[in-house]
Amino acid sequence: MARKILLTGGTGLLGISLIARMPFSFTICAGYYKFPKDRLSKAGRCEYREFDITSRDQVRAAFKGYSPDTVIHAASIGNVDYCEKNKNQAELTNIIGSRNMIEACAENGCSMIFTSSNAVFDGEHPPYDEAAAPNPVDYYGITKLETEKALASSGIKYSIVRLMTMYGWNHPLERQNPVTWILERLLRKERLNIVNDIYNNHLFAGNAAEAIWAIVRHEKEGIYHIAGGETVSRYDLALNVADCFGLDRGLINPVASSFFSQLAQRPKNTSYKIDKMEKDLLVRGLGIREGLEAMKADPPRGWKYDWM
Ligand SMILES: NC(=O)c1ccc[n+]([C@@H]2O[C@H](COP(=O)([O-])OP(=O)(O)OC[C@H]3O[C@@H](n4cnc5c(N)ncnc54)[C@H](OP(=O)(O)O)[C@@H]3O)[C@@H](O)[C@H]2O)c1
Repeated sequence: MARKILLTGGTGLLGISLIARMPFSFTICAGYYKFPKDRLSKAGRCEYREFDITSRDQVRAAFKGYSPDTVIHAASIGNVDYCEKNKNQAELTNIIGSRNMIEACAENGCSMIFTSSNAVFDGEHPPYDEAAAPNPVDYYGITKLETEKALASSGIKYSIVRLMTMYGWNHPLERQNPVTWILERLLRKERLNIVNDIYNNHLFAGNAAEAIWAIVRHEKEGIYHIAGGETVSRYDLALNVADCFGLDRGLINPVASSFFSQLAQRPKNTSYKIDKMEKDLLVRGLGIREGLEAMKADPPRGWKYDWM
């Protein structure tokens, strides 16, 4: 069946991966906010639309102009320290902006796939399955949980996709992720201090997109934990990046997280159980080296990073 998808966060790491892997019978209207228009890349069945999710009027106009049947809501402020420092702005975008999207879905009979996060967990009782009780330790996690609650009481058809920390090729104008951050520094031959006491089953953005499209195609509802197939520390991730891309692993120094005075507290281990994703969506969580190899095999075309 042909489907019309309204995607928010179309220029972010996940948005780019979703557009690159969109199913054939689907069309997408990809929303963005501050991204420069002349840097948007044309993609066949994807049109772009600039609208600010914090504006009810702009959200309504976007729905009216496109008439979607499904919304994938992936726009947010995802920088944990930034959210901690700028709570009003994080609330406006992540809570009120999401509420505007939910309200428009209700008015237009649309279903929503909401991209939540491992940040809803405190990291004390891994691995987390979909029934585990959330307990966010930072403001970003609180904003994600607030939207989960708003969805549960909205009456619309929805699915909550709790994504693990992702990696992949972000657009050069967008924020980096752990892998592009490490790659840039290793390519510049900088020494890196990387924490060896924070664990995740890091998720390749392409793997996340595959799982989300399976949810949309099969009209799945409820909560899904989406993560990679292997739990490693940030330090082990960095060693894998160096080995996979043929860079110097000797530049990477392991440190405890107490080494950094970060603003927001970081949960120690928020890794997921991914049985539901693998059995229900038939999407296998990629191991770290597999995900990195997939990333390496599909380098960004037409984008220029100043460090590559
Ligand atoms: N990355 C991760 O590791 C991770 C992990 C767990 C969950 N998630 C969740 O997954 C989703 C996608 O994350 P991501 O990393 O792909 O995002 P990202 O790269 O940080 O990109 C954020 C996107 O949101 C858009 N945006 C921000 N404020 C907006 C506003 N007021 N109105 C409209 N659009 C706005 C940005 O548009 P412009 O480019 O135009 O500014 C951009 O497209 C988010 O919900 C995030 O919380 C991410």
